Amino acid sequence: MKDLFSVNQLTKDDVGKIFEIAKIYKEKFNAGEKKFNDLRGYSVLLVFFENSTRTRTSFELAGKILGADTINITASSSSVKKGETLYDTVKTLEALRSDFIVIRHSMSGAAKVVADSVESHVINAGDGTNEHPTQALLDAFTILEKKGKIEGLKIAIVGDILHSRVARSDVKLFKKLGAEVTLCGPITMLPRHFEALGADFVTTNLEEALKDKDVVIFLRIQLERQDKPFFSSLREYSIKYGLSQEKINLLKEDAVIMHPGPVNRGVELQSELVYGSRSLILNQVENGLFIRMAVYKYLLS
Ligand code: CP
Repeated sequence: MKDLFSVNQLTKDDVGKIFEIAKIYKEKFNAGEKKFNDLRGYSVLLVFFENSTRTRTSFELAGKILGADTINITASSSSVKKGETLYDTVKTLEALRSDFIVIRHSMSGAAKVVADSVESHVINAGDGTNEHPTQALLDAFTILEKKGKIEGLKIAIVGDILHSRVARSDVKLFKKLGAEVTLCGPITMLPRHFEALGADFVTTNLEEALKDKDVVIFLRIQLERQDKPFFSSLREYSIKYGLSQEKINLLKEDAVIMHPGPVNRGVELQSELVYGSRSLILNQVENGLFIRMAVYKYLLS
């Protein structure tokens, strides 16, 4: 595997191997080993055409911990501003001998286009509403760490499914690993083809979605991708689909909540629940580092 642009490329075996590598890195890191030489002599170019905190920082840190030289390229400070195409931008980066190109772009399919255009390893850090494969890997790794298994778990994904690349990658990966997946959100934000992607249940009723679940993942309302209103107000959305202290009582006693971030506090989750006892949000961020280290290593091997 030269590139990682979609969860579709991964077999269950690939996922198991990536998790194994991530687990070893995490154990060694926690034992005090803070630097590895696995990417020494390699260059990692982080090309982000959309904003990011978690993904960009963890890919950069992961590269640095593994000994790579990392360089950040943002659309606002690159020749994209002068009208250079995506193709010419990445061919230029390839000519500069980039070993890895980590790309985030607003166009669905951008990472695949880039992967097919260059010899460098290409990793999709989020392409439009299409996919975010390393987010799905870190989500599944976090669930596995907490629950000891994925197979047979009941997982609900709640919110702006229509615009969510995380939902698309999560559904594919959770199904591959044997979980039962329910999608929940306003009818305007539930694309029908999600059932075709493999989701087991789709509902517009949050109470129904919360019942009996082992894991509930809340998604950010992506106002930047909404060219028309999909619900009447954020207040109405939070009343119907946001998690409150009261609604948390509908969850199973050992159920956990997750969110890929960034959170709209008071919309998807009541503020005090963001880092509450049920929340794995910071575990997701932490595991993002080790999963991205593992993905670099796996693509090299
Ligand atoms: N989860 C995620 O992709 O977050 P960022 O946009 O901060 O990278």
